[in-house]
Amino acid sequence: MEKIETSLSVNIGGIQMRNPVMTASGTFGYGSEYADFVDLNQLGAVVVKGVTSVPWPGNPMQRIMETPSGMLNAIGLQNVGVDGFISEKLPYLRDFDVPVIVNVCGKTVEEYLTVIEKLNTTGGVAGVELNISCPNLDCGGMSFGVDATLAYQLVKEVREITHLPLLVKLSPNVTDITVIARAVEDAGANALSAINTLLGMAINAETRKPELANVTGGLSGPAIKPVALRLVWEVYKSVSIPIVGMGGIMTAIDAIEFFIAGASAVAVGTANFVNPQASMEVVKGIHDYLNKKNIRSVKELVGSLKVD
Ligand SMILES: Cc1cc2nc3c(=O)[nH]c(=O)nc-3n(C[C@H](O)[C@H](O)[C@H](O)COP(=O)(O)O)c2cc1C
Repeated sequence: MEKIETSLSVNIGGIQMRNPVMTASGTFGYGSEYADFVDLNQLGAVVVKGVTSVPWPGNPMQRIMETPSGMLNAIGLQNVGVDGFISEKLPYLRDFDVPVIVNVCGKTVEEYLTVIEKLNTTGGVAGVELNISCPNLDCGGMSFGVDATLAYQLVKEVREITHLPLLVKLSPNVTDITVIARAVEDAGANALSAINTLLGMAINAETRKPELANVTGGLSGPAIKPVALRLVWEVYKSVSIPIVGMGGIMTAIDAIEFFIAGASAVAVGTANFVNPQASMEVVKGIHDYLNKKNIRSVKELVGSLKVD
């Protein structure tokens, strides 16, 4: 059989990427933390830690713990705030030839808008990923991402003030993720990220205390991969915008499974803590898989699940 040239490049909601592998927000710092292990220029995109309108201190310790095949975290979105991000973190990333996607969070719509307005006028931002899992203070702390109306309103208001490519990150902690996915697509999202962490908790049987100071936290890692695959597949069947799949991706084969379920790109998260070079290995493994199977483009895999 004649050997064909494989292409890893993808376009996610207007962001042109050399390959479909991004870093998952909150697991790769602001990029510089991993620069000794990863050539940032070889990534599809760098998605930075969630940024808010003012610096957030995060939750009290204990904030992370290992679980069977995963981890629980309740970091509480500790970050330097949008001004600190623009002045201290972004200049470093601008030196690389890689799209920078800024994950944005807020406790009110206004807080999100404040961050977006500042990112609009800053060079070096390729796109925005809205984390809609934040508690909404105007709604008693209910997350934006669990209510279709709240999610729609937030995304619509953000859409009205920015031309930056807009990814919206879906929460798995909902009854029907497709309702939220369609609402944010209607509100003008260019792409979806799926999934954020699953709510969980851990208890110490000796002390009868929760292991995390925040009591509950977000579960991530291989333990959530089957849930994430199922949700990506459901979302894929419901929307026409591209999906960035994530949740427990440790290897290239995990990533391939997400493409087959309907993701057009993937993000590597918790794996970065176990193996700081995981993202690079995933890029190489996808390339090798395509070559071995004589598949021209990763796009051919997207949504190719064979269901009888
Ligand atoms: C320590 C930690 C911090 C995270 N911080 C963020 C964040 O700031 N914003 C966000 O949208 N998601 C955040 N996430 C969720 C990840 O980006 C990702 O959606 C989730 O962990 C599932 O992927 P994984 O199983 O590969 O880690 C965080 C996850 C972890 C483990």
